[in-house]
Amino acid sequence: MIPLSVPSIRGNEWVYIKDCLDTGWVSSAGAYVERFEQDICRVTGADYAVACVNGSAALQVALQVVGVQADDEVMVPTLTFIAPVNTIRYLNANPIFMDADAFYNIDVEKTIQFIQNETVFREGFSYNKTSGKRISAIIPVHIYGNAVDLESLVPICQERNIKIVEDATESLGTYYTQGNLNGQYTGTIGDVGCYSFNGNKIITTGGGGMIVTSNEAVAQKARYLTTQAKDDPVRYIHHEVGYNFRLTNIQAAMGVAQLEKLAEYIEIKTRNYKRYQQEIEHIRGLHIAETPNYACSNYWFYCLQIDKDIYGKDREQLMAFLAAKGVQARPVWYLNHRQKPYRHCQSYQIETAWALWEKTLNLPCSVDLTPNDVAYVVSVLKHA
Ligand SMILES: Cc1ncc(COP(=O)(O)O)c(C=O)c1O
Repeated sequence: MIPLSVPSIRGNEWVYIKDCLDTGWVSSAGAYVERFEQDICRVTGADYAVACVNGSAALQVALQVVGVQADDEVMVPTLTFIAPVNTIRYLNANPIFMDADAFYNIDVEKTIQFIQNETVFREGFSYNKTSGKRISAIIPVHIYGNAVDLESLVPICQERNIKIVEDATESLGTYYTQGNLNGQYTGTIGDVGCYSFNGNKIITTGGGGMIVTSNEAVAQKARYLTTQAKDDPVRYIHHEVGYNFRLTNIQAAMGVAQLEKLAEYIEIKTRNYKRYQQEIEHIRGLHIAETPNYACSNYWFYCLQIDKDIYGKDREQLMAFLAAKGVQARPVWYLNHRQKPYRHCQSYQIETAWALWEKTLNLPCSVDLTPNDVAYVVSVLKHA
């Protein structure tokens, strides 16, 4: 079976992890944690980084440190893995679901329209006209490594005091190439950004995450909350409810090794994306989705779009056919505004997200995918 997305472990992982084992530094205190945080800052241009147990924990703490409170509302795309949506609920706040654009990202135009027409600004905060609740934050998710059009979104959020928590869990290494954000990396533009190092991400620590920010006080608060809010670590005095959310040294050691390979991994993923694109162009009814022209994507995942009337098979039929031929593919996530825990929540003009959901399959995209693997997948697609 050619898997959808599996890790590539080909660098200094063994060396650095052995170092942790040899020295006994295995827990969340240890030099690799700090080194991994510094390396992430160096690679992304972030000022501060706080390593966490996973991307979900990073997002939860990020929302908390930007000021999301119980009963608030947070805007989020309906087309995303459910994790960012769940983190809103962990804080007893509620999501408002937004549509997707052509790049699977939150539809920024509609989101701006929503803020302008459906909210009022009062005493320094934005309130939802329908629910009367405060909208304290938005989570733009850089889906599949595609950069959200943040240049358009940032000004209105600043004007309306809506904090931006970037979910850059899928987009480590993606950066903008145009406009005001030219040269800046996803994750470093909003008030706080979050990365994930889950097993299927572009680099992995098995499980892991990172909070980044340019605000020192926010970084300090995140560090404090993720280490059980220790006000006096010797006498165990705690003034707040904290979490045991820090990354271990072993995982950070793996992260340091993986991060050394990020540029190479992105190069391979970009090459494989182009291979798929060139070949699939010749198959009637199939198309590889483009990435935004205002950014350089990390090409984490590839999206095959199917016109079932021309191609003759729909998404489910093609997924089953590929599986029978030893190729793992999968549809995009079911839309969150229709998931059982969130059906009662507000959603705003969801249209494109349905169209993308219906016609998309993700194709194998691991770093270790060979040119022969790509050729095989394409030949299966040709003969389906
Ligand atoms: C968009 C998105 N947000 C958040 C997460 C959560 O990250 P983690 O699995 O590290 O908790 C993931 C991936 O798993 C994701 O794809």
